[in-house]
Amino acid sequence: MTNFLQRTTIACVFSAIVILVIILTLAPSVDAAGGITPPSGVSLSFPPFTSAINCSTDASARTTWKPSDMCRIQDGGREVMFSVDFATSIRYQYYRKVQLWIPGTRYAASFSTTFVVAFLRGSERVEDGNYNPFGGGIAFAMTPDQRVGRGSAETLGLFEIDERTGKSLRGANTKTFAVEIDTVRMSTVPSFNDPQTPHVGVDINGVKSTAAASLGTFQQFVDRKIAIFIDYDAQQQLLQVRLQNLGFAGNSTQTPDKRRARLYLNIHNLRVSSIVNPQSYVGFSSSIPEDDHGVYILYDWKFTTKWVPINY
Ligand SMILES: *[C@@H]1O[C@H](CO)[C@@H](O)[C@H](O)[C@H]1NC(C)=O
Ligand SMILES: *[C@@H]1O[C@H](CO)[C@@H](O)[C@H](O)[C@H]1NC(C)=O
Repeated sequence: MTNFLQRTTIACVFSAIVILVIILTLAPSVDAAGGITPPSGVSLSFPPFTSAINCSTDASARTTWKPSDMCRIQDGGREVMFSVDFATSIRYQYYRKVQLWIPGTRYAASFSTTFVVAFLRGSERVEDGNYNPFGGGIAFAMTPDQRVGRGSAETLGLFEIDERTGKSLRGANTKTFAVEIDTVRMSTVPSFNDPQTPHVGVDINGVKSTAAASLGTFQQFVDRKIAIFIDYDAQQQLLQVRLQNLGFAGNSTQTPDKRRARLYLNIHNLRVSSIVNPQSYVGFSSSIPEDDHGVYILYDWKFTTKWVPINY
């Protein structure tokens, strides 16, 4: 009897130890500061452009076109061309969500993203003067899903908007942070109040930018390769957006170099973790041009995160 009890006790203690070891192994590790050790950062780099980036379109778009006809991977994966034979919007985002912060911990992801894009104007539009947008522009976007926003080119495919205010109609579910290169503006909407296009702006749950800066005239901007550098420091709560004009797409010899790019936006007190979901899709949202008007070309895209301690 004693032996049986002892054996049972030993068995119980042993089981408890095994369970404890399993629990400790599964739990996130605890660091010296008592916080949860953050996951390792992500690093995405294209080209080659592959099916790791989803092209999604507005489901209501009248079309027999497939998404792959609107985001055309060309030249052995070296570039992606955006255009189709009617005005529509697309998302072109990494197929998996990326971790940007973790509720209840003192860590958030800083991120850096760089891409090179060209807005190539159709030849018959060249003589049409300065204010001659085609498509709506393109935005780097962090979103809760890959559901393309319906509506005018001003939406950039981010979400449906109130045409008077530019605010999202998706309410509390919008959870979108974007940096737009805006090439179209509905001049009949005075409340948008953005600078003349083309401009670069920060969009938080609305396409009336919270901050924006002019990119000069269309003549200085179209048909060029433009490198965009977006850097967010989650600890400093600082967003910086730089652009570098690499010259005509047809004969540019310059390569992207952040040190030679010009700082257009320098935004303090920006808490991306209070805008987006802990896990969000990253990539692009665009109102793409009609074939006859021009095309957008994406030449490369890099996105990396680095986890930093935060005190908010
Ligand atoms: C994105 O692509 C993945 C597979 O690559 C697919 O499972 C997923 O449904 C796609 N997401 C959307 C929103 O189309
Ligand atoms: C580069 O291309 C542009 C536009 O096609 C053209 O106007 C310019 O003359 C070209 N420059 C050179 C050096 O070839």
